[in-house]
Amino acid sequence: MATAFGSEAIGILPENYKYLQEFIYRESGIVLEAEKQYLLDARLLGLARDAGVTTLNDLCALLRAARGPALRQKVVDAMTTNETYFMREPAHYDALRNVILPDLIKLKDGSRRLRFWSAASSTGQEAYSLAMMLLEMGLGNWSIEILGTDLCTQVLERAGNGSYTQLEMNRGLPSTLLLKYFRRSGLNWEIKDEVRRMVRFQQFDLRSSMRSLGPFDAVFCRNVLIYFDLPTKTKIIQEIHGTLFRGGYLFLGSTETSLPVGEQFERKSIADATIYEAK
Ligand SMILES: C[S@@+](CC[C@H](N)C(=O)[O-])C[C@H]1O[C@@H](n2cnc3c(N)ncnc32)[C@H](O)[C@@H]1O
Repeated sequence: MATAFGSEAIGILPENYKYLQEFIYRESGIVLEAEKQYLLDARLLGLARDAGVTTLNDLCALLRAARGPALRQKVVDAMTTNETYFMREPAHYDALRNVILPDLIKLKDGSRRLRFWSAASSTGQEAYSLAMMLLEMGLGNWSIEILGTDLCTQVLERAGNGSYTQLEMNRGLPSTLLLKYFRRSGLNWEIKDEVRRMVRFQQFDLRSSMRSLGPFDAVFCRNVLIYFDLPTKTKIIQEIHGTLFRGGYLFLGSTETSLPVGEQFERKSIADATIYEAK
């Protein structure tokens, strides 16, 4: 019974599919629905080959027997979706530039200190976009900390390197910012130190306690909650609220409109952007 993505094409046994579903949920919170064999195939077959086996059933056997965290982390890394680009969802950056930051600059003129969190930073474009925007607004002499976190270790390594291909640079980054804040490094473009030193990356699972992270003036938690179930989304949003200053802002992905944001935030529209202010 062979189909394009059917059981023979992939050969994964139902009990192994269930095992991977549970494994991925336990390790990351990501919900892998039924009938997504093609996704497992695309994401994990290369990894299986690198581990010296050829099928996902064999990979499951290796995972079950794995002693250390290395293979587990590789599977989690492979199952995360890391799509991102510079200045993604420009309406958010416009709202920051035109309304939120001017207010924050007045409010924080005493301490001249601002803290931001890119809570699913992927390869770093979100955090660096914010840093460049702050520099463009003349805040280079303020004390600014941008924390970038992600579950996936591979993307964090890339984020820390701040080195991007031409294709990645072509996605969303205005050429003026490219020329001002990046330098050529072989075939890639590397972020300059004045931007890099504003951003710190570390691994963090959004399902963990966030007590030690805040307080932040704004948190970007964009395009990640869609992968979680409702109780996980609800808990993460509540925890993020605890990391924000009162009056601080939460940015969610613009397609994430039905998230359980609740009473603790006030929903605000700033031009084309929807943003959530912590009460
Ligand atoms: C689609 S990217 C979003 C990147 C960026 N925020 C944006 O909007 O362009 C989603 C990121 O969430 C990360 N992620 C998935 N599960 C996570 C978890 N439990 N804790 C932290 N990050 C997670 C993935 O590794 C991935 O890099």
